[in-house]
Amino acid sequence: MAKKNPLIRPLVHALHAYVPGEQPKIKGLIKLNTNENPYTPAPRVLAAVRAAVDGRLRLYPNPTAQALREKLAKLHGCAPENLIVGNGSDEVLALAVRAFVEPKPNSKLKIKNSKLAKAAVQYFTPSYSLYPVLADIHGAAKNVVPLKPDFSLPSVAELKRGKIWDFDAALTFVTTPNAPSGRGYKTSELEQLCRAQNGVIIFDEAYVDFAGENALKLALKFPHVLVARTFSKAYSLCFQRVGYFVGHPGLIAALNKIRDSYNVNGLGQIAATATLDDLKFYRANFKKIIATRDWLSHELTQLGFRVLPSQTNFILTKPSLFPAKDWLQKLRDRKILVRWF
Ligand SMILES: Cc1ncc(COP(=O)(O)O)c(C=O)c1O
Repeated sequence: MAKKNPLIRPLVHALHAYVPGEQPKIKGLIKLNTNENPYTPAPRVLAAVRAAVDGRLRLYPNPTAQALREKLAKLHGCAPENLIVGNGSDEVLALAVRAFVEPKPNSKLKIKNSKLAKAAVQYFTPSYSLYPVLADIHGAAKNVVPLKPDFSLPSVAELKRGKIWDFDAALTFVTTPNAPSGRGYKTSELEQLCRAQNGVIIFDEAYVDFAGENALKLALKFPHVLVARTFSKAYSLCFQRVGYFVGHPGLIAALNKIRDSYNVNGLGQIAATATLDDLKFYRANFKKIIATRDWLSHELTQLGFRVLPSQTNFILTKPSLFPAKDWLQKLRDRKILVRWF
């Protein structure tokens, strides 16, 4: 084993970094491995970004993404104070861990505080694989609770019976609709969880534009609930890195205290703001993507694949004939990139 560099914290030595989906530069590649949007941004969005590439690049961008937050507030029927924008939703998820969760007590410092020890990051498995990484970076305890065998959400009664779920966890992440299962959850079942949970809950709605229901009203109703959204998936803007939280102004103010002053780049703010002026274009894309998803699910089922019903822009499927790993390679040989779970 390589010798540990004493300049680096032991916690960082022990970390396993998040592994993003591959981004190979192969010509003609059909790239389905990171749930990106197959359609380019609206022409007006591209024009707005191009028009902004001028002498303004020497200036700092708006520190609070004010224009974007005002437009988002109108769209979601809330106030700009209910919104914080980040460098992708990944950034706001990371901010939440830092703002709401105490790291594990350092045993060397002999801090004994059972309340702190309970302050965990909690999430279902399988769900977004960034959550454990964020908890580990922060040195926080994790409470990982399995979904039901069909990847549906356990009810509050089931969670109580299971005795693993911590209703006092400092922070709970729920990916809805879920990744990588693609399953959607009902707002009513999410509301039950909000009523039972004492700590902060984040509904990570990265794929919500492809789903039937969303939890936005819960973020505007409960003081301990945040909804995370992103421009990456439905709005074809992965490259620009813009995501945000909607929630109670008290939680939003706490997050604002710990973010970088200029956390959202200027071109990203312009692209996202222009996106909101052209929602018709994107809603037409959602329809096309949903139709393609449903067609592909049907065709795969016909071929003997087991396909989970999806409320997202991707499908989790168990292939027939030979193992998924072999499909991965055979598809890759044909320049089709998918992800293996
Ligand atoms: C569930 C989930 N949340 C958040 C993200 C990150 O989105 P962003 O590009 O806004 O950081 C992803 C990206 O794959 C995701 O799958």
